[in-house]
Amino acid sequence: MTTTLITGANKGLGFETARRLVAAGHTVYIGSRDAERGRRAAERLGARTVFLDVTDDASVAAAAKAVEADGGLDVLVNNAGVEAREPDGRVIGAAEATADAMRSVFETNVFGVVRVTHAFLPLLRRSAAPVVVNVSSGLGSLTRVTTPDTPTYAYPGVAYPTSKTAVNMITVQYAKAFPQMRINAVEPGYTATDLNRHTGTQTVEEGAEIIVRMAQVGPDGPTGGYFDAEGPLPW
Ligand SMILES: NC(=O)c1ccc[n+]([C@@H]2O[C@H](COP(=O)([O-])OP(=O)(O)OC[C@H]3O[C@@H](n4cnc5c(N)ncnc54)[C@H](OP(=O)(O)O)[C@@H]3O)[C@@H](O)[C@H]2O)c1
Repeated sequence: MTTTLITGANKGLGFETARRLVAAGHTVYIGSRDAERGRRAAERLGARTVFLDVTDDASVAAAAKAVEADGGLDVLVNNAGVEAREPDGRVIGAAEATADAMRSVFETNVFGVVRVTHAFLPLLRRSAAPVVVNVSSGLGSLTRVTTPDTPTYAYPGVAYPTSKTAVNMITVQYAKAFPQMRINAVEPGYTATDLNRHTGTQTVEEGAEIIVRMAQVGPDGPTGGYFDAEGPLPW
């Protein structure tokens, strides 16, 4: 039996990933920073839930303790993420980017990934087939953001793409440090969720495809890679 924790799984891509992994036979923990939203999501899916705010050391430590007491963890999906937007919904571009806005995005998208991975490492190391999926973005690809005449090139934000480039580097360094684990970064594609005020062009079913696939890689599967549903991506 495979036990899987997905951070920020009370809605969006995390929720759809949870739905698919429950269907695939995983015991799934819905990580949620709101206990009631997590409970409702878990109830709908026949999953478990754990209170987990990726920006908060105490909540992450308590979540790791709870999951450990229930038997441990095989798969960690670092999915929780935020984007920096103006109150009117516009992405914060270079002219308006501030250290505070940057720090707030990094607190969730980057430090959150490190905080959660660090807390769950002892559990993953006890698994026979440990897997980590870091939900990155195509916007984290330096190659893509510098390829003219593409939607990725046209994206004006600073904090969000920078945070996802950091997630890619975290993925590579952890994959080298823990060769017994399968650790990959994935790009779901532009998907209609609350993150982008439902402007995304894909459904959550399409977006979750690569997350679900990489959550199920076996010990012979790839590690230290960066993938979308079509295959490897340029860094
Ligand atoms: N949608 C896209 O087009 C797209 C493309 C590429 C990558 N991604 C990535 O996919 C991941 C999921 O995003 P989504 O599109 O599904 O967005 P979403 O619907 O807004 O879901 C984001 C999830 O993260 C949770 N979250 C935010 N901050 C958190 C924190 N501090 N602690 C715990 N949970 C927290 C949210 O919880 P609340 O409900 O409490 O806010 C929510 O459950 C993100 O990493 C995002 O960067 C999305």
